[in-house]
Amino acid sequence: MRTQVAIIGAGPSGLLLSQLLHLNGIDTVVLERRTADYVLGRIRAGVLEQGMVELLREAGAGDRMDREALIHDGTDICFNGTRHRIDFKGLTGGKVVTVYGQTEVTRDLMEARAAMDGQLVYEAADVAIHELDTDRPRLRYRKDGAEHEVRCDYVVGCDGFHGISRRTIPDTVLRTYERVYPFGWMGLLSATPPVSEELIYVNHDRGFALCSMRSASRSRYYVQCPADDKVDDWSDDRFWAELIARLPPDAAETIVTGASLEKTIAPLRSFVAEPMRYQRLFLAGDSAHIVPPTGAKGLNLAASDIHYLSRALIDFYKSGSTEGIDTYSDTCLARVWKAERFSWWMTMLLHRFPEASDFDRKIQNAELEYLMSSEVAMASLAENYVGLPY
Ligand code: FAD
Ligand code: DHB
Repeated sequence: MRTQVAIIGAGPSGLLLSQLLHLNGIDTVVLERRTADYVLGRIRAGVLEQGMVELLREAGAGDRMDREALIHDGTDICFNGTRHRIDFKGLTGGKVVTVYGQTEVTRDLMEARAAMDGQLVYEAADVAIHELDTDRPRLRYRKDGAEHEVRCDYVVGCDGFHGISRRTIPDTVLRTYERVYPFGWMGLLSATPPVSEELIYVNHDRGFALCSMRSASRSRYYVQCPADDKVDDWSDDRFWAELIARLPPDAAETIVTGASLEKTIAPLRSFVAEPMRYQRLFLAGDSAHIVPPTGAKGLNLAASDIHYLSRALIDFYKSGSTEGIDTYSDTCLARVWKAERFSWWMTMLLHRFPEASDFDRKIQNAELEYLMSSEVAMASLAENYVGLPY
């Protein structure tokens, strides 16, 4: 097979890039290790920044989002049992966030790709990158017992944190920066109405909690849990009891509980790999960086990478200019590190750290008190939450 851009991974990054390039006359092949159903079954992010919303529209995959998504003008942050509102719209000159699940984003992109006969190979096993140092790199993979090869101009690694792309870059070139947090998030999805119109982030003595949603009839809740907990440790009853114990009184009294549709534990990690380009390979999304989920930046950061990369490749194929390609890594990393900082800060602000001293807790409380007493501090949170400009 011959293509212009070979993409590894059909998560949101890979699908979005493939679709944007296709609409600009650039040929792509996407190789995905799993089945389409498996990819769609992963319940992950739920909050989209305006930049991602616009990119989905540009990709011709925004119609259902525009009909069904919820627009949020603010969020609540609760500590010492009291709810405080951060007014995104008022503090950022009118900016808001869009609540629309990653599964829906993925489904819409898959349908848009299928409508254009996009070349997507699911269950592609043992994908490997060869001859990156030539101007004709090749990908090899196995499917249904047969060996296949794709020749291309460029390879894009959209294969997430555990993918093979990043590991193709030699250790002498790649630098990684990492922090692993000593807890996870136990998440539960239920067919129940959300407890509140907007999200509630909770700092509680028993640990962090988050009330989120997917629609008016689907709720997504999280509680901080020990890093080595297993999903089986958390019956639905235990989850609801723990969540309710951490909520402010009005929410604890009115929450509607129900059977879980899905439960997962996510570890919390900050991670950045530099550079994001090596020879004819680009990294985009989770293959290059991970943020802890506090602040909902992971998916949105993948989208900004794809924004820069799609423009760089379109420019290259239209005009022959390599400027966007050459500056891709530095341009992305400047924004990546700001989102890393914000996600790290939100995580430090809202969680209980097992090793925290009394001093650390007093400082955390002072930071929360300061935040809620200062319009400048709230505006800084709001500016980052709605998304820094591309
Ligand atoms: P992915 O979605 O990981 O997609 C990568 C794709 O590559 C996958 O389909 C994978 O199967 C495929 N792949 C991997 N290896 C290979 C290979 N060798 N060959 C071929 N294909 C391969 N973000 C938020 O903002 N809020 C959240 O609440 C949130 N929760 C999360 C919970 C979990 C458990 C995880 C893991 C992430 C969460 N995130 C969250 C982050 C967000 O989901 C990711 O940032 C987003 O999925 C990144 O998209 P991506 O396309 O770059 O990577
Ligand atoms: C969701 C996840 C987040 O990490 C977050 O900060 C907000 C919402 C969610 O899954 O809905």
